[in-house]
Parts: sequence; structure tokens; C-alpha cells
Amino acid sequence: MRVLVIGGGGREHALAWKLSQSPQVSDVFIAPGNPGTAEIGTNIPVPVEDIDRLVNTAEHHRIDLTVVGPEAPLAAGIVDRFQARGLTIAGPTQAASQIESSKVWAKAIMNRAGVPTARAERYDTFEAAADAALDMPLPIVIKASGLAAGKGVVIAQTHQDAVDSLRDMMVERSLGDAADEVLLEDYLVGLEVSIIGITDGTTILPLLPSCDYKRALDGDNGPNTGGMGAYCPVPSVDPELMVEITRTILQPTIDHLREQGIEYRGVLYAGMILTPDGPRVMEFNCRFGDPETQVILPLLESDLAELLYASATGTLADVDQPSWRNGAAVGVVLASGGYPGDYRKGMQIQGLADLSGDLLAFHAGTDKDSDGTLVTSGGRVVTITAVEDSFASARETVYRGISGVSFRDCQYRTDIAAREVLS
Ligand SMILES: Nc1ncnc2c1ncn2[C@@H]1O[C@H](COP(=O)(O)OP(=O)(O)O)[C@@H](O)[C@H]1O
Ligand SMILES: [Mg+2]
Repeated sequence: MRVLVIGGGGREHALAWKLSQSPQVSDVFIAPGNPGTAEIGTNIPVPVEDIDRLVNTAEHHRIDLTVVGPEAPLAAGIVDRFQARGLTIAGPTQAASQIESSKVWAKAIMNRAGVPTARAERYDTFEAAADAALDMPLPIVIKASGLAAGKGVVIAQTHQDAVDSLRDMMVERSLGDAADEVLLEDYLVGLEVSIIGITDGTTILPLLPSCDYKRALDGDNGPNTGGMGAYCPVPSVDPELMVEITRTILQPTIDHLREQGIEYRGVLYAGMILTPDGPRVMEFNCRFGDPETQVILPLLESDLAELLYASATGTLADVDQPSWRNGAAVGVVLASGGYPGDYRKGMQIQGLADLSGDLLAFHAGTDKDSDGTLVTSGGRVVTITAVEDSFASARETVYRGISGVSFRDCQYRTDIAAREVLS
């Protein structure tokens, strides 16, 4: 199989790395990729937005399977376009990817499918939303319906904050069209976990549960980011709970979509909170998580290419449940100082090449300058992952490894997976 991975972050590096280990995979191409993916495959300098060129690239390189990392090309209909040209691609169609690109649509699906989720109401005017917010108990969860690059959700602690945020979104249009519709949602309390399944629209095979860390600073302080670290598995999501989540959340969702004429293929990612009353879905994403992928795939023993090919071709019922190595994976994101606000680029990265063999480095915002020196080129620079028999030793290994890597103003969290060691 000749495989094309679309994207250029740590998630795509992890996907390319794992796919390249498949005995069925002869060649891996990554568009656009990064210096990390260049070590395991061939980077093709086509941006993820340029679907025309991506289709042509896949034809030109006789690609047998395309795997899409980020949500934007999925929402833009990349799967429909590849399929129209007879190309095999793992991912949901534009219609199906509304499960992420429209939180209003996703909430309606959850309610009709009977999936446990936070109670929410939809509003499309500021006046109606503000009126309703004033009657809600605090805190109030305000969600812009559309894609907002992680900036579309506000947890308002006062009614004044709620009204101000709604005005920002709906009157000042700070998020553009994304907040033409909003949800006002009940606030849920509990551990936040990510459950990712691979599906062909009929069968869904769950991967191990993971936890990611969205806030910039230790102790879940500071602003929200794309994700500062993750670990896998999540001990409190035991095998029985995974079975329940599959039976009550993942399977009913794809079954309901299929009954509506939407065969959902690719990755279904449920972001959920384990409340005292059971798991509740906060949102669905239509792709792998970043950085969750960088801790899930290192534990996967099964052939990822086989799983994704079966998802794309509707043959997942013939594939075994994924198998896993025992132990724990901890991944820590090294970010540029100032991220997610302003930060500098072009800082020399030292020590990455000498990382010891028991560590994985998944590149994101890295680049080679004119003389081949590895430098920073983005907010999230690299995810370092350790796999060990316990969370304690995985944490020890990953932070020991990180101490040997440096670039100016490097910033990272020191508490990734700490709760699984202290408690
Ligand atoms: N109903 C809720 N109760 C409590 N926290 C929530 C709720 N919905 C979202 N959040 C918090 O806000 C974050 C972002 O919300 P999410 O629905 O995942 O949107 P997005 O990832 O598109 O920004 C979540 O990771 C979670 O921490
Ligand atoms: Mg989310």
C-alpha cells in the first residue's frame, strides 16, 4: 500500500510513523509534513487547504489509502472529492463531518440517538440567547456552533460574563459566521476523557481512552491551547466502562446517522466528562486528537493501515478488535514561549537527535533553516512521548528526556499524568 497522510503536525507525524510500521505499507507520503515526517516518508509541499492539488497528488503517486489529520479539509469536503475520483480515503464526508463542524447539528444527532450529553438549547439571536442566559444557573457553557479553532467555547462564571461573551460572538461577530448559532449548555463536572473509535459506518472499534491537557499552564491554569500533553490509557475508564461507552454512545451515534442516510466513516472522537451520573458527551470531533494520537498509537499493536483501510472500504466487521501493549504512554508538548499568544520562531532546537531510544519525538512546529539546522516554526513544537510499564516510570522517562532538549523560551507543563501517580 502507498499511503498519503494529510497534515503537518504531531498527530500526522504519529500517524505516518505508525502507518510506516505496517507490513502492508510500502511507501508513506505526507502533505505537507514536517522535518520529523521527512525521516520516515516523503514530504509533499501541498497545504491541507488545497484539495485540488491533494487529489492530483494522490493520483500522481498512485496512493492506495489517504488518511486525513485535521478537521478543516474534512469539513471542506476532501473525502467527497477523493471518492469522486475513485480514491480510497479514510474519513467522513462533508455531510458526516458536520458532527464536528456544527455543534448544533451534533447536539440534535445526540438527542435523537439517545446519547447522554449535556442539556443544551440553540439560539440564533443575541437577544434570545442573552435572555435565556440570565435565567441559567452558573457557570454557563456558551458554544459557538461552527469551527472556531478551539476559541468557540466560553465557560461564563457570572451572568454579566455570559451576556458580554454572547455580545462579542453574536453582535461583534468576533468568531465570524461560527457564532451565527450558539448553544447554551449545562456545566458538567468530572474527569474529561477522549474516546476515539475507528468506524466504517456500521462497525466501530474503540481505541484506548486518553486524557489531554488543554490549558497552557500547570494545574490547568492559563489560556486554552491546542493541547499541551496527554496520556493513555485512563485507569478510571476500565474495560467495562469502555464497553458501556461503545454501546450507549459510539454505536448509537453511527447507527442513527446511517438511518439518516449518512454512512459515517473514519474516526469518531467523543470528548466526554465522566460525571457522577455516568459519561456525558461534550462534543464530537471527526478526526484523531492532537496530542492524544501521540500517546494512543505508541501503545497500539495492531496494524493501523489495516484498520483505516477497512474503515474507508466498509470492511471493518472483518477486522479484529485492536490489540494493545500493556503499560502507559505519557506525551508532553514542548511549546514556544508565549504560546498560545505571540511567540518567536526560528529558535535553534538542541538535543532532539540525541533523544534516547525509549522516547518518541513527534514534530509539529519545526523547520530546517538554510544550513539544515532544526529550528522552531510554530506554537506547539514537538510532543515527546514515553511508553513504560507504569505512569510513574513513563513520567520519569519523558521528563528526563525533555531535560536534554532545549530551545530558547521553551515552555511545557510538568504535571502531565501526575494525577495518575499521586492519587
Ligand atoms: N458542558 C460542559 N461542561 C463543562 N465543561 C465543558 C462543557 N463543554 C465544554 N467544556 C469545556 O470546554 C472545552 C471546549 O469545549 P468543546 O465542546 O470540546 O469545544 P471545542 O473543542 O470545539 O473548543 C472542553 O474541553 C471542556 O473543558
Ligand atoms: Mg474539544
